[in-house]
Amino acid sequence: MNKKTKILNADKEQDIVEAVSIIQRGEIVAVPTETVYGLAADARNVDAVKKIFAVKNRPANHPLIVHIASFEKLSEWAKDIPPVAAIIAKHFWPGPITLLLKKNDLVNDVVTGGLNTIAIRVPHNKAFLKMLELLNTGLAAPSANPHKRISPTTAQHVMSGLSGKIEAILDGGPCQIGVESTILDVTKDRISILRHGPITKKMIEDVLKVSIDSPLVHGENVPGNMKIHYQPYTQTLLMSFDEIKRRLSEPMDEEKVFGIIHYSDLVCLHKNIKAERLPSDKNGYSKLLYQALHAMDGIGACQIWVETPPLEDDWSDVLDRLSKASATDNNK
Ligand code: TXA
Ligand code: MG
Repeated sequence: MNKKTKILNADKEQDIVEAVSIIQRGEIVAVPTETVYGLAADARNVDAVKKIFAVKNRPANHPLIVHIASFEKLSEWAKDIPPVAAIIAKHFWPGPITLLLKKNDLVNDVVTGGLNTIAIRVPHNKAFLKMLELLNTGLAAPSANPHKRISPTTAQHVMSGLSGKIEAILDGGPCQIGVESTILDVTKDRISILRHGPITKKMIEDVLKVSIDSPLVHGENVPGNMKIHYQPYTQTLLMSFDEIKRRLSEPMDEEKVFGIIHYSDLVCLHKNIKAERLPSDKNGYSKLLYQALHAMDGIGACQIWVETPPLEDDWSDVLDRLSKASATDNNK
């Protein structure tokens, strides 16, 4: 499967129309969202959805998120929609939160990996929303990276992982948010966060006026809930700022290159250290985190050291992604 991947421009109407016609032909296109780039196919077209799994090398039982144009379309995909879904949609859609609901009978099993639930969101991206409107269907779209690897936040990241394997990328520039959406399970009496994301526990509780569960590691038996994920090819270690300083104060093997991603003040004069400083505010940090990991992965380092982020509620998504990026247990 080697084709020339075309780069389309999300600011050009005719390129959006071309992306739409590729989807209508049953092919897949990488699309920009406010969180990360997605790999989109018509969620009603089983053969097209299967191509997503093949290109990503994703196991068939890892369910996909379906993106829709507006809350009004939700009943085309889900059933028994609880009132809290409308509250979440009113406050946060279009935006970076995905609702887990019961799927209706029109939804094929390929999209949901055989589960009777479906994950749905309305993305906050003009070009992607235009595509959804023109297509008048839902688009299944996981992050546009090879299975278990770092999610892409630019068209170039998508190219480096999937060039030659997909028809086209709709280039919408760097993603505004930079980490994947929050996933909220509203199928049960007790509402819970299945994946931490930009919409935090507190933001959800403030609008729902009830307390919700948000285990840092949830026990849901969902195949996509893996301990190892978002991984650079280079070994990545999460460590405190003190530990980074301690290592830098010891004699180092000058033959080896090390990458450091930090947000605290660091003076580092070693020639074999490539350090990248991220903003210390959560939004600024998460917007650039995957870019920094992608960049560090390309410098030939033997290890990437990442300063542990603040252990605060609104950093939970970053902590979750970095824990998985640095995990080493191969049992899961
Ligand atoms: O921000 C995002 O959510 C991005 C953009 C492209 O929208 N998408 C994304 O998709 O992160 P993906 O496939 O990389 O991650 C989706 C996660 C997976 O961990 C999957 O297991 C979970 O959503 N998921 C999807 N459907 C589910 C279901 N029915 N039950 C439980 N988890 C589900
Ligand atoms: Mg993903």
